[in-house]
Amino acid sequence: MGLRDLDAWKALEAHRRGLAEVHLRDLFATDPGRAARMTLGFEDFVVDVSKNRITDETLRLLFGLARARGLEAYRDRMFSGDPINSTEGRPVLHVALRDATGRPFMVGGRDISGDVRAALEHLRTFTEAVRGGAHRGFTGERITDVVNIGIGGSDLGPVMATEALRPFRSGQPSPWDGEAPLEVHFVSNVDGTHLADVLRRVRPETTLFLVASKTFTTQETLVNATSARSWFLAAAEDPAHVAKHFVALSTNEAEVRRFGIDPANMFVFWDWVGGRYSMWSSIGLSISLALGWENFRAMLDGAHAMDTHFRTAPLEQNLPVILALLGVWYADFWDAQAHAVLPYDQYLHRLPAYLQQADMESNGKRVDRDGALLDVQTGPIVFGEPGTNGQHAFYQLIHQGTKLIPCDFIAPVRSNNPLGSPPGEHHRILLANALAQTEALMRGKTEAEVRAELTAQGVSGAALEALVPHRVFPGNRPTNTILFDRLDPRTLGALVALYEHRIFAMGAIWGVNSFDQWGVELGKQLAKVILPELATDAPASTAHDASTNALIAHVRSRWE
Ligand code: F6P
Repeated sequence: MGLRDLDAWKALEAHRRGLAEVHLRDLFATDPGRAARMTLGFEDFVVDVSKNRITDETLRLLFGLARARGLEAYRDRMFSGDPINSTEGRPVLHVALRDATGRPFMVGGRDISGDVRAALEHLRTFTEAVRGGAHRGFTGERITDVVNIGIGGSDLGPVMATEALRPFRSGQPSPWDGEAPLEVHFVSNVDGTHLADVLRRVRPETTLFLVASKTFTTQETLVNATSARSWFLAAAEDPAHVAKHFVALSTNEAEVRRFGIDPANMFVFWDWVGGRYSMWSSIGLSISLALGWENFRAMLDGAHAMDTHFRTAPLEQNLPVILALLGVWYADFWDAQAHAVLPYDQYLHRLPAYLQQADMESNGKRVDRDGALLDVQTGPIVFGEPGTNGQHAFYQLIHQGTKLIPCDFIAPVRSNNPLGSPPGEHHRILLANALAQTEALMRGKTEAEVRAELTAQGVSGAALEALVPHRVFPGNRPTNTILFDRLDPRTLGALVALYEHRIFAMGAIWGVNSFDQWGVELGKQLAKVILPELATDAPASTAHDASTNALIAHVRSRWE
């Protein structure tokens, strides 16, 4: 039975038809309690979902869909360590990494909470040794720079979090006696430019490389790590010095050893931590080195608080579930193809990129867990930029284009940089913009309002008629507003976990496996075939389609 055959689905379709002509402006005008009723809280988070094309009945039907799809039972299976990642036969237990309560987590009949504690303790002691100056480089100098070499989930989370929490980098009791805190750099792209650019800014004597790869077989990461090691050895000369400057963050001890890193310098995690859910594991070492252990722990604790909320709150008050249901509502009942993530905080500038992988790699699926083709739309195209930059780039399309793009507006109430006169004025302007955008998207501007405005400006006749259609905003464009007091490690942890569980809940409703990513494999396989064919002395390629053969020939002709 397809999703469309479910009574709960059909009821939503019928209900959706009834909403076709309803405008949010009217829903607000006729219901003074709407905003209060549709605003939820969690710790210092305020999440306002009232500017969505929904009524109380919509929510009731959506909760019905969640129940019909067994969302709660599926969620409980995740927390109890069932191998819900069915195509890889693995549990999905990133939640265990941030649970410091001592609660057991079972994998294959074994409690893994002790392994988690030991791995986090390894991170903590190493973090403190590097930050405190006990772990030094081969000349005895302190480590000043950390270079994380990894890609996808072994890069995006650490980049996003270290950027988001930049003000906390020096917030630790400083081991630096007034010196600058550790600088962290990230190299992901196999384009040599990325590594070369970072290496120009660091010294071999004072640089620690973290080779971050769950599988330790990822081509880009191993190529970058090999080049980094050659660069290092050109200065250090003695291979014995590698041990002080290269550590591995991985699940694969055999490959770490084969690469030449002593397993003693390896920070472990496990196959039940998905790559895009791994910043809470050893993959987060760059975060804890940059921020200090206490801040890293606070981030885990914030995520754990959201985990507990997701696990225990009734669906009707469950933030990730509500945001997920709204996502399904637009993707499947309003044909929305995209979802915009719009952080009004410059430090969150990599959040959209992080969520792109988290969401699109998780729910970019076209078959269900049993392999049957789905008869519904799944994960949207996720994109975004920090406000107000996005306003001057792509918001035009969101306001007046032909596509419906639900948006998340995310903002701290207080800034970590209260600049301006009076202090905080920049932030007041930023928030005014964020709130104005949600209002504008919801209300729009009617033809009558446009006519009145133009007339007041002295425009009339043919000139007025020509302008009116261009100046009308249809409105009725849905937004969620997510506010919290201040961007700090705990808030960031909770915010990221909120999105992780939203993604989980959407996947559960669609019935997809959100935890594999076979879609990235084909390109990897074909790149291995093309690589030797790009050698200028290789025989001309004829094995591909005419386009690919010709492109290979063109590149080679320019190299010859
Ligand atoms: O892009 C595919 C992917 O498998 C991601 O899921 C993963 O985060 C990334 O590659 C990196 O993988 P690894 O950590 O094993 O190097």
